[in-house]
Amino acid sequence: MAKLTEMLADVQRRFAADADAAESEHALESVRIAYLGRNGEVTLVRRTIGTLPESERPGAGKAINDAVGAMEARLEAARGKLESRRFDAELAASIDVTFPAIAPQVGSIHPVRRIIEQSCDYFTRHGFAVVVGPEAEPDYYNFDALNIPADHPARESFDSFWLNDSLLLRPHTSPMQIRTMQQHRPPIAIVAPGKCFRRDAVDARHLFQFHQIEGLLVAQGIHLGHLKGMLTGLCRELFGADQVVRFRPSYFPFTEPSAEVDTTCPKCKGRGPTSPGAQAAQPPGGAQVRSTGVPVKTTGVPDARSALGCNMCGGSGWIELGGSGMVHPNVLREVGYDPDVYSGWAFGFGVERLGLPRYEVDDIRRFIDSDPDFLEQLS
Ligand code: DAH
Repeated sequence: MAKLTEMLADVQRRFAADADAAESEHALESVRIAYLGRNGEVTLVRRTIGTLPESERPGAGKAINDAVGAMEARLEAARGKLESRRFDAELAASIDVTFPAIAPQVGSIHPVRRIIEQSCDYFTRHGFAVVVGPEAEPDYYNFDALNIPADHPARESFDSFWLNDSLLLRPHTSPMQIRTMQQHRPPIAIVAPGKCFRRDAVDARHLFQFHQIEGLLVAQGIHLGHLKGMLTGLCRELFGADQVVRFRPSYFPFTEPSAEVDTTCPKCKGRGPTSPGAQAAQPPGGAQVRSTGVPVKTTGVPDARSALGCNMCGGSGWIELGGSGMVHPNVLREVGYDPDVYSGWAFGFGVERLGLPRYEVDDIRRFIDSDPDFLEQLS
């Protein structure tokens, strides 16, 4: 028995050294086979049991079984250690879990579409309906019904892509005023977004195909103040809470009076450069903007406009948005409304023009370049 115990201790000692030294799971398996396999070292020891006196055999069997249990436990521990070492090595070699993942390519709403949606959302919240109409219109809707007779010089700038003698791609969304008023009785409150086409030479501010959003409100007692209120609200929604709107006298055959609409430059707010220590400049006309957003006339204040150098408004402090005015009585008559009973306002803004200050873009062509980098920045 003493000899068996000694043999067993020797086997266990060598097994422990070999198991600890195994560098791979494969090597460990070889160690297992060498010691615990069918013809392994433990089997050799076990075979010596037969040489022992009968009384010692159960004790010897138990000693061998205990040793096998301890060896198997040691094997298991060594296997676990090797496994986690292999896993760590694999991670280090092929997967850097901190490496930034490849960003998925996600589409987004086009900035022009987003301005249309945001503007329509503003107007629908105020009770307006959104209407859309044909992109090719007879000259009647494009011109005649809008108080632009065939010989009127105002046709010149609109008179663009003719499809036949009387049908042309619409140069503005104003035909939707006529279509809507012909189909409905007042009160009318609509906005009409859509594509327009003109033979303009393409440059940083012009496209031959672009979008407009038209607005029309006709009812009893409608006046210019309603227009100013609605457009100021729109500008605040699109550009920020302090926007101011101003009307510049202008001429459109379908409105009287007519005005171009400007809003304070959303970038410099008409106040000049934001650099520290820069002297606050006054908006055009020596007007000062109070925190309420209402321009207040001041006297004796030097107009620092020319020194502003704002690259968004060129230092004027204002951004031009489009045309507007009170619907001309001839237009109301044309659709069978009595101008002595009803009055209304209308406006037409270029959507890409709204996009320039909205996204601080300096060239209108960026909107049609389909450059994913550009669109991603605005998404
Ligand atoms: N249709 C005009 C244009 O494209 C813009 C315009 C001016 C629309 C005055 C209006 C308006 O509704 O009242 O230049």
